[in-house]
Amino acid sequence: MHFQWYPGHMTKAKRMMQENIKLIDVVIELVDARIPISSKNPDIDELAKNKSRIILLNKSDLAHKGHTDEWKQYFEEKGYFVATVNAKSGNGVKSVQNTVMDACKEKIERDRKRGIINRPIRAMIVGIPNVGKSTFINSFAGKACTKTGNKPGVTKGKQWIKLNKNVELLDTPGILWPKFEDQTVGLRLAYIGSIKDEILNITDLAIELIRFLVEHYKGILEGRYECQEQENAIAILEHIASVRSCRKPGDELDLDKAARILMEDFRSGRLGQITLEFPEE
Ligand code: G4P
Repeated sequence: MHFQWYPGHMTKAKRMMQENIKLIDVVIELVDARIPISSKNPDIDELAKNKSRIILLNKSDLAHKGHTDEWKQYFEEKGYFVATVNAKSGNGVKSVQNTVMDACKEKIERDRKRGIINRPIRAMIVGIPNVGKSTFINSFAGKACTKTGNKPGVTKGKQWIKLNKNVELLDTPGILWPKFEDQTVGLRLAYIGSIKDEILNITDLAIELIRFLVEHYKGILEGRYECQEQENAIAILEHIASVRSCRKPGDELDLDKAARILMEDFRSGRLGQITLEFPEE
C-alpha cells in the first residue's frame, strides 16, 4: 500500500502556527492514544521550541488502558506534562487545567519575580486533523467562557477564549499534517480513519489489521466473529463476510463489505480497546 500526503495544506497551516506561537506560553498537543507517535507531527518540536509542552492522549476510551499508562510514562520521561483524556465524554478534561498550571509553574514564578502578577497563561491546541481538537476545545472551554477580542499580533480574526482568570486559549487550533515518510505511519493513520477510505484499498487495509490483531490481541476476532484465528488473514475476512452475510449478486462473498464492517467495528471501539503501537518499538 502506498500513502500520500498534502504539502499544500501543510505550508499554510504551519505559517499560521508560526505567526501565533510567539504569543503562546504553553502548547497543548493532542495525539490519538491508539497511535501516539504516528499521530504526532515531528515539526511541532521545532515550532514549539522553548515553550512548555503538554501532550494529551485523547480518545483514551478506544485505547488499551495498560498501554496508555505506558505511553504516559514514555512522554513524561521525555519532559512533557501528560494527561489522558476522552474529549468526547469529557473524562479527564477538567484535570487539564491543573496540568497547564504545572507546566507553567516556572513561567508564573518568573513573572512573579518581575512583579507581573495575574497575567493569564496563553495556550494553543495543536494536532493533526481528526485527533479531537475541536471536541476538546468545546469540552475544555465549556459554555460559560467568554471570548476576548482580537489582540495585536494574532492573525486577524483570531480570538482568545478566557477559560478562567488563569488561562486563555486561542480559539483556533493549530493543524499539522501527519508525516508519511514511514509507510507504517500511513498504515496506522488509515486504521484509525484519518486517511479517507476512498483513496485506500479497504480490503488490503482490513487484512493488515487482521494480521495485527491476531498477533497482538489474541481472541478479539474470535470473540466477535467466531472465526478461527489460526487461519490466514484472507480466510478470516472471508469468514467475517460469510457470518455477516456480505454477498454480491450471484452469491460470491463480498470482501469489500466485510472489510468495511471490520474497520467500523474497530474504529467505533466495538472490537474493544486496542492500541496499535507500543513505546518499546
Ligand atoms: P479535529 O478538530 O482534531 O479535526 O477533530 P474533531 O474534534 O472534529 O474530532 C474528530 C472525531 O473524533 C469526531 O467524531 C469526534 O467526536 C471524535 N472524538 C474526539 N475526541 C474523542 C474521544 O476522546 N473519544 C472518541 N471515541 N471520539 C472522539 P466524528 O465521528 O467526526 O463526529 P461525531 O459523530 O462524533 O460528532
